[in-house]
Parts: sequence; C-alpha cells; structure tokens
Amino acid sequence: MLKTHACGELREENVGQEVTLAGWVHRRRDHGGLIFIDLRDNSGLVQVVFNPAEMSEAHDVAEQARSEYVLQARGVVHRRRPGTENPDLATGEIEVHAKSAEILNAAKTPPFYINEEQDVDELLRLRYRYLDLRRPAIHQNIILRHKLVKYIRDFLAERGFLEIETPILLKSTPEGARDYLVPSRVSPGAFYALPQSPQQLKQLLMVAGFEKYFQIARCFRDEDLRADRQPEFTQLDLEMSFVDEEDIIQLMERMHFGMARMLRPDMRIASSFPRITYDDALSRYGSDKPDIRFGLELRDFSSAFAESEFAIFRSVLADGGQIRGLCVPDGAEGFSRRDIDTLTTLVQTYGAKGLVSIALLGSGEVDLLAEDDVRSPISRYLKVEQVKAVARLAGAKRGDLLLIVADKPRVANNALDGLRRELSQRLGLIDEKTLAFCHVVDWPYFEWDEKTQRWDPTQHVFTDFPDEDAPLFATDPSRVRARKYDLVCNGYEVGGGSIRIHKRDKQEKVFGALGISMDEAQEQFGHLLEAFEYGAPPHGGVAIGIDRLSMLLAGASNIRDVMAFPKTQSASDPLFGAPSLVSEEQLKELHIRVVRE
Ligand code: AMO
Repeated sequence: MLKTHACGELREENVGQEVTLAGWVHRRRDHGGLIFIDLRDNSGLVQVVFNPAEMSEAHDVAEQARSEYVLQARGVVHRRRPGTENPDLATGEIEVHAKSAEILNAAKTPPFYINEEQDVDELLRLRYRYLDLRRPAIHQNIILRHKLVKYIRDFLAERGFLEIETPILLKSTPEGARDYLVPSRVSPGAFYALPQSPQQLKQLLMVAGFEKYFQIARCFRDEDLRADRQPEFTQLDLEMSFVDEEDIIQLMERMHFGMARMLRPDMRIASSFPRITYDDALSRYGSDKPDIRFGLELRDFSSAFAESEFAIFRSVLADGGQIRGLCVPDGAEGFSRRDIDTLTTLVQTYGAKGLVSIALLGSGEVDLLAEDDVRSPISRYLKVEQVKAVARLAGAKRGDLLLIVADKPRVANNALDGLRRELSQRLGLIDEKTLAFCHVVDWPYFEWDEKTQRWDPTQHVFTDFPDEDAPLFATDPSRVRARKYDLVCNGYEVGGGSIRIHKRDKQEKVFGALGISMDEAQEQFGHLLEAFEYGAPPHGGVAIGIDRLSMLLAGASNIRDVMAFPKTQSASDPLFGAPSLVSEEQLKELHIRVVRE
C-alpha cells in the first residue's frame, strides 16, 4: 500500500516509529515557517508538521498543498510539546514530523467546506455527494451503519439463521405504497414490480423448510418522502417457523440491546423494553409510535366537561368525540398568548379545530383554586369545580398549564401527539443520550377510516388473528385482534412484524373481509395460497428499518444522513441526474410510447 499506517490510528505507543501516511489535506496552517497539515483518511485525522529548517523539500511540497489535495507523507511520530496536545482528537497526543512528501493528486476548491460543520444546501450536498461523504460526521455515520449490519449478520448467523437473497424483479407485493414498475422487453406490455418488501418470498422460504431466514433486503416504495422515508431503503427482513409472538419479540429485544451497547456505549438503554398495548399507546401518547423519553402523557377530560357550557365541547362529545389534553408542569406563567397561538396553529395543521389553554395560577393545592386563579380564553364557560376536576384528572397542581383538544379520536390523537412532540423540544425534555425502545403490542386488525368509510387493516393482509375472533369479521370488525407487534424507538417506528396466516382457508377469509374477490386473490396471491396447501408450517417474522435504526444510533435527524447515496425530497438523484429520459430506441425495445401532457 501507499501507506504503512492509518492516520487516525496513531497513538503514543507509535512514538519513535517512522510511518508513511496517505490521505487528504483536511486543514493546512502556515505559521510562516512551520506548516501544519491535518491529514485525513478513512480512519480520522493526524497532525503532520513540516519544518523548513529540517526538511526543506518536504516543506516545499506542503507549501503547494491545498485543502483536499491527496498527499503522501513519510515521517516520524513524536509526542506533542506539553501544552499543545489536542484532547478533542483521538491522535491529539502525537504529531508526525515529515521527512518527505508527495502530492498524489490536486483538488479543485470544494463547493462547500469539508473541514467545518456548516449548513449546506441539500441539493448541493447530494450533487457532490462524494465530497459530502468526506465530511467527518457523515463519514462516521456510514461506518457506524456498516458495523450495525455486521452486528446483525453475526448475531443471527450465531443463532442458526440463513441469509438468503430474493429477487428484485418480481410482481407487485402489497405493503400499502405505490410500486416501482420495470417494463419487460420480452413480454410486451407486461411489467415487473420492484418489491416493497420480500414479504411473500420469506413466507415461501418457510414453506420451503428453511425455518430461520434473514436478509439485508432492499425495498422500494413510491410514496411521499419524509425525514424517515426514502423511496428505496433497507430492511433487516426476518422470518422463523414454529414460533409465536414472544419468540420474535424477545429475539429483537436481545439483538437491539446488544447492538446499541456495542455501537453506542455512551447512550442509555434499558435491558428490557417496555411493552405498551396499542390502545394504551394511543390514549397515553396519541401515537402508535410513542416517544417515551419524556412524560407529558395525555389524559381524557371528557367526563369533567360532560355538562360544559362551552358549545364546542358539548357538540364534540355529542358527536362521539373526546376532550383530551396534557399538563405542562409549571407552565402557567411561561407561555405567552403568542406561544399559545403558535401551538394552536400547530394543532390545526393536524385538523384540530383549536386548542384550549387553562392556566392554574398561584401555588399549592388545586382544591383551593378560586375563580381568579383560572386563566383561559374560555374562562367564562368554565366553573371552578370543573377546572378542579380537570386538574385532578391531569394530576396537575397550581402553577401548571393545561392544554386541551376536543375532536374526533383520530384528530385528537394526531394533534396531541404533534403537540406533545413540539412541547418536548421547546421545553428541552429530551435526553439525546437515551435510546428508549418499546414494543407496541395487541393491535386491532382493522381501523375505521373516516374518509373512505371502511375498515382498513392496520397491517398487511398476511397477518394472523386468533381463531376465536373469526366470527367478528362479520359482526364487529373493530374487535378482531391482529397477531402483530411493532418495535419503536424515540418516537420512530423501527420495525414491525406479525405471526402469519399459514392456512389457505384462513387467508381467503381475510381477502374476503377486505373485499378482495376470489378471482382477484387467485390472480394476485394464487402462488402463496397454493403453497399453503403443501404443508406450510406456522411461521412469523419481522422487518426492521436499517436506515431508521442507523439514524437513531448515529444521532442523526434524517435517514439521508446514514445512506451513502440517498434521493432528494422529490425522489431524484442530483449526482447521476436520475431519473432521466432514455433514448427512443430503448423505449421502442420496451414497447413503450411516452405521452407528455
Ligand atoms: P413495514 O412496511 O412496517 O413492514 O416496514 C418495516 C420497516 O421498514 C422501515 N420502512 C422504511 N424505512 C425507510 N423508508 C421507507 N419508505 C420505509 N418504509 C418502511 C420502517 C418499518 O418499520 N413485510 C413487512 C414486515 C413483516 O411483516 O415482517 C413490512 O415491510 O422502519
């Protein structure tokens, strides 16, 4: 190699050794005599000193070097002079005194600083992704992601799992998003679909008798992008035969605990993850992916407002809605009218009609609260006794602020979840050094969708349900239970899975309940239904979002920061210029004519 050592790995024990290094000029400081270069490679940085009095040729080379030049330097490792050590740098105890140097390649001035943390326009970053990836913070994220995947592979291989690849060119797999399609050249008018997940394939692998399968699988979903969503992303996809919910949940708990311990020993993580039922998650946090790093739990105040004089409250309750909210401890004085207006606008973005605030002024017991101690835009509709009842339900004391939303359950949940997350930021309640995992369990099979006025499944259609719930499909779909579980961390859904249906008649029953005709089921899922007739074992599994997990472990706030070549918000790649137009010839071969509106 062109180097004997990695820059970032040199330590005190290397003092006295002659080393050859190669890397990029991270920073260069010319002190009008001595030149200091921080040389950077994949492993980190080291300071190289060029002294004109000792080695004038090497110094001449250093004089020509500029940021991001590729440089090779030979020299001897020295302990730094007392007082000049850099405790922020892993190599900060030492420096290399250069004897010779060679510029291996020059570099144009980069379009943004690589040696400084700064906000750079996303498009520019992605256009020059190879430079962006040189920036130490993001470089480390990609290294961490490698370690994470390696940990998973080792962990599962040790437990008898087989890694098996499945096709990318396949047929549509329903996971709720739009498919990416690939036209077939040999079958005019026919298309492959890129898998949204290897769901059916892994189930077929169970029928094939592999019993413990996993894959680091690329998935494709054409859906609206968000900070935790990309059109192509990676799952740890896993399936096991002869298991129940407990086996998968415990396996995932052990794997994530061990992984977090190894990759982030500096972060707090509980060795056993709390389990929260779906109903509890919604009533306490307004979300099926609760952030449990902080309190601000939601409470239902409907009973206290049953006799309210406030017309909106009355009509919401009459319509089957709820009056719920949360208590901000010691918030009575800390929120201006403007702050409350901002929070009101926030809940309105979730469709809520408004936000009612009630400040409990003074201090001491709420039982001694007087009319003058209640500050609220709806105070003239409030009776002191009502406020006391609400305060009791909220566990509030005087000096606290109550924030209340009255709406249909789904709207109230979304609005209060958003409010809770916003307040946690504002009030600095989040401990960034905590990874708060939890399992969300006991899911209902269906949720009522107000918009479409139908029962929608809360998970994919291969999820099993307890046999005794079968009659409920016809009588009361809301009570059918799903054998599903999700893994949540810091308010993100990290993964989800279920025990699957493994019998044809049961699977057909679900298709029927979802309004999928026998013909349609045969056309879309005939291969799976048929496989179930050849001795399919009971099985279940899970898929973990590798990008989201890497983001959480790296402390990043966007999954783009843990992906080497992510897409922009509009699903494009500015570096390659993808998606792009193709030649007429290619289109013709694929039997495609493009119609531009
Ligand atoms: P699901 O659709 O819940 O389940 O996906 C599992 C996990 O994949 C991650 N994920 C994503 N990450 C980034 N960008 C996206 N667009 C995206 N979509 C999903 C999330 C999510 O929790 N086949 C089932 C799993 C199973 O039942 O075994 C499935 O794909 O972290």
